Amino acid sequence: MTTILRSVCLATVVSIFAASACSSSSSSPSGANGDAGAGEAGAVRTATTGTVERGEYLVDHVLVCGVCHTPNGADGKPDLTKYLAGSRSYDFTDKDGTIVTVNAENLTSHNPEGLATWTDEQIRTALTAGIDDEHIALYPIMPYPEYSLLTRADVDSIIQYLRTIPPNDNVVPSDYPYFDQNPPAPPVDGSKIPHTTLPTTDPGYAAAERGRYLATAACLNCHTEQLSADVPDLAKAFAGGKKYTFVRGAPVNTSANITPDATGLATWSIDDIVAALKTNTEKGTGRAFCNTHPGGPELYGKMADSDMRDIATYIHTLPPVANGPFKCLP
Ligand code: HEC
Ligand code: HEC
Repeated sequence: MTTILRSVCLATVVSIFAASACSSSSSSPSGANGDAGAGEAGAVRTATTGTVERGEYLVDHVLVCGVCHTPNGADGKPDLTKYLAGSRSYDFTDKDGTIVTVNAENLTSHNPEGLATWTDEQIRTALTAGIDDEHIALYPIMPYPEYSLLTRADVDSIIQYLRTIPPNDNVVPSDYPYFDQNPPAPPVDGSKIPHTTLPTTDPGYAAAERGRYLATAACLNCHTEQLSADVPDLAKAFAGGKKYTFVRGAPVNTSANITPDATGLATWSIDDIVAALKTNTEKGTGRAFCNTHPGGPELYGKMADSDMRDIATYIHTLPPVANGPFKCLP
């Protein structure tokens, strides 16, 4: 939860969501039932589809929320005593040249540090539209433009799982200087995400299209350059070249072109892609990937084989896009 209360109505933001009203405090805007003061008992539960198990799987092994929302310990490994309790910080340069630090907040069921008093609808809005409980719009390092394409059941599953995480009182610093991405980054236009080039009659077609759904939510944000700040260039979807860093002062990483072009993965088979995702190493050289690619045994390593194969089938059969080649490190 951010610590700054808003007393102004963000009309441009709020108007997108007919259900939201302007709020003069941090209390829930969701009408008669939204009594945030009542704490957990008052949080309106509307996440009725999906399952906690599906949510845990998506959070830990597909969408890897902890990469940003779990801090690293002194040993550089995730500090699991602060699982999803925040925070990684992320620096970016705002339009006017200011360097802004945003922090990935506490998602545990702690009151007030976590999401205890948020209604399900507020969590859903943050996840899929990038607007928090105080109507502050989030910076899209948080991949809500892509999460807007998740099914209702998957979003509900994530919400249900977050509710099971024990309260953790970890205090996450406020974004500095004060930041409000107003208006929020627009949702990714799902109709512009490329389809597999396989014909519908191909036996791999269904797998590739299942992979399209997962890869859009999990891989698109990092593996696609931006047209302008916050808007991915979908003509170059999955063609890499986006620059990334999570740790202040660390070298900037550039994502790889994962389309089957000569500048990308033209020489990789579906099995090669699956193997790389499992071992977190590059085909041929065995080099471990830069740590911005969220591989490794605890992350993609525990993705279901069938999901990994679906994703690999999709990216292997994307329309090739010439872009790069890029190196993770200069
Ligand atoms: C690449 C990093 C990254 C990933 C992955 C990520 N987040 Fe975030 N998230 C952030 C950052 C950074 C913010 C704060 C942005 C800001 O302050 O403008 C945030 C904010 C949020 C908020 C709003 C919290 C608040 O108190 O305002 C929620 C809820 C949230 N994330 C949930 C999730 C969930 C659930 C997942 C996985 C499905 C996820 N995030 C994945 C970086 C990430
Ligand atoms: C947080 C950002 C991020 C996310 C999320 C991400 N990647 Fe990556 N990925 C990278 C970066 C950066 C590299 C370059 C790593 C290197 O070369 O060391 C990379 C490299 C790769 C490579 C190796 C390409 C090569 O030429 O060696 C593959 C394959 C890959 N990613 C697939 C995926 C898939 C599939 C997903 C989604 C399931 C995904 N990535 C999600 C950042 C990301």
